[in-house]
Formats: sequence, C-alpha cells, structure tokens
Amino acid sequence: MDTLERLPIPLLEWFRDNARKLPWRDDPTPYHVWLSEIMLQQTRVAAVLDYYNRFLMEAPDVAALTVLPEERLMKLWQGLGYYSRARNLQKAAKVIVEEHGGRFPSDYAGIRALPGVGDYTAGAIWSIAFGQAVPAVDGNVLRVYARVCGDDGDITTPQMKKKVTQDLEKVIPVNAAGAFNQALMELGATVCLPNGAPLCERCPAKEFCAALSQERISELPVKAPKKPRRVEARTVWLIFRGNSVALRRRPGRGLLAGLWEFPSETGTGPFPRGWGIEARSNEYAGQAKHIFTHIEWHMTLRKVDADTDVLPLGWVWASGAELEQKYAVPNAFDQALGLAKERLDGGE
Ligand code: ADE
Repeated sequence: MDTLERLPIPLLEWFRDNARKLPWRDDPTPYHVWLSEIMLQQTRVAAVLDYYNRFLMEAPDVAALTVLPEERLMKLWQGLGYYSRARNLQKAAKVIVEEHGGRFPSDYAGIRALPGVGDYTAGAIWSIAFGQAVPAVDGNVLRVYARVCGDDGDITTPQMKKKVTQDLEKVIPVNAAGAFNQALMELGATVCLPNGAPLCERCPAKEFCAALSQERISELPVKAPKKPRRVEARTVWLIFRGNSVALRRRPGRGLLAGLWEFPSETGTGPFPRGWGIEARSNEYAGQAKHIFTHIEWHMTLRKVDADTDVLPLGWVWASGAELEQKYAVPNAFDQALGLAKERLDGGE
C-alpha cells in the first residue's frame, strides 16, 4: 500500500482524541472558518484566540463586517501584522453582500474568487465548513507530507504544493474531509514540529513514516533558503507636547499602509526641519529592531519636546488613552509605544 493511503485512518483517530478545542471548531460556519484561517496565516493558534473573539464581538457576521469603520478594523487587527489581510476580509464581505445577496458563496469557484482567498483558504473553507473533499495545503501539511512520504522536493515551490495537493486528493476521505485537513495541520502544529524537533513517539504515522524509518527527520522537509532581507536604518521620533505625542498616518499604499506611526525617517540624520517643529530637547531613547517579510528596520529612537501645537497636515496629537484605544500602531513601533505610554498619563 502506498504510504499516503495508510495515513487517513490513524490520523483521524488521533485527531478525534487530540484535537484542540477551538472556538471556530464549535461552530464551523463559513464565516467563522474563513476568519480563523485568515488569522491563522499570521500567527499561532494561541495568539489568535483573543483576536478571533474580539473580532466576532464587533463583526459577528458578514453584514457587520462590511460596515465596520476602517479605524476599528485596523485596531482589531493591531499586532497580527499583514494589515492588507484585514482589508481584504472587508472587501470580500462587501463582495458577498453585493454579488451573493449577503450569503456566503456555496461553490468552490465563488469562494476562491473572494479577495484574499487563495487555494489554501478556499480549500479550508470548502472542506471544513462545507464538508467537500478538497485538500488545504499549508506549511504544516507540506512538512508532514515531506516527512511521511520521504519526499525531498523543495516545499517552497509551487510545483511541490501542486504535487502534494494532487496526492492528497487521492486519499482525502469524502466523509471526513474537514477533519482530515484539520488533523494534518494539527499534526504539523503539535507533533510533526519544524526544525528537527518532532515528537515522533506521539505520531499516528510513526509505523510508516519514511523520514522516521530512514532517519531523515532532520533533513526533511527541504526548504530553499529565503533571500536575505534588506536592512534599513531609521530614526523614530517621539515628539511630545504636554500630555500628547505626535502620530502620523502612513501612506495608503505599501508597507503598513494607512496605519499610524511615530514620525520616522530613513537614516540617522538630525530632527527634520521640514516638519515645521523646533525640538526644544532631543534625547536618545534606545534602539529597536523589527523584522518584516522582505525588510528589517533597525531603529534609533529619540524623544523630543515640540515648541508648537501645530503639526503637519495629517498628523495628530494622541493622548495615552487614544494610543491605547483609538489608533492602530503596528508592532514595529512597540518599543516606541512603550516609551510614549511611560511618559503620558493614562497610557498604562
Ligand atoms: N492552522 C491553520 N489552520 C488550522 C486548522 N484549521 N486547524 C489546525 N491548525 C491550523
């Protein structure tokens, strides 16, 4: 018997006994599955739980999501990263209302055509919420496949993803497709761990896993190295005036589009004259680093006291409470945010 054909039965048994209890599993509507899967592309399950519950309180269904103000949407996503994913969720909700009469599309093509929904997310929704037998291949699934099958194809390539999808199509149980896909991901997330540290003794595939029997666990999966990220030096200015700090909105396109930031400039130059503010004091406040997908920011933080209330167009003075509740400031500025809150009343 083909190795992969041996997987479904023990995997489903293992999942029945070991599935984590997760809120979207209690009530796997298409909306719930979609939202959780988009959030899970950003970070791990434990971190998603709070975001998921808060999001559903403000946007309990597709219709509510369409009317969520942009500022609230960004605030609800703050800390998850890849804010375009949140914008795509709302765009897709609008498509559902405008083109599908407010009902989640119940055909694969309709789901796959929603903004921000790729093969993986469409497969997850179609299998978990609609019970249809399509694979959902994410990084966890690729790793499990590579090891169980002893396949040394590069899992970062579209060819490998296609091969894995096609092979799983042949073994996915038609009566338990959603459980099978979730079980594969769950196995990857909790047992078949990356970086050569899997817990093979707990694995339902240990009897037939090729990597395990060939002692190739630490060699698989094969993953081509990413090209190195560009490093950018930036100076981030914490500009105080009374009980407020200056924020500005980032441009509508590109990195962290439309989010709020402490004014910053590339390089390590002096306080920019072009802002029309005199810095009464100017103090070094530390270094910070933030890693994005394609770029790394190496930041120098500086605190200044402004001599004026007048800010450039599109900037605002934010109080400590507004920093907490109103403005979505991305994680890249966490350290600066901490320093600002230290200094402002009501920010802690
Ligand atoms: N990671 C991403 N989606 C998941 C799911 N549905 N179950 C378990 N882990 C996941």
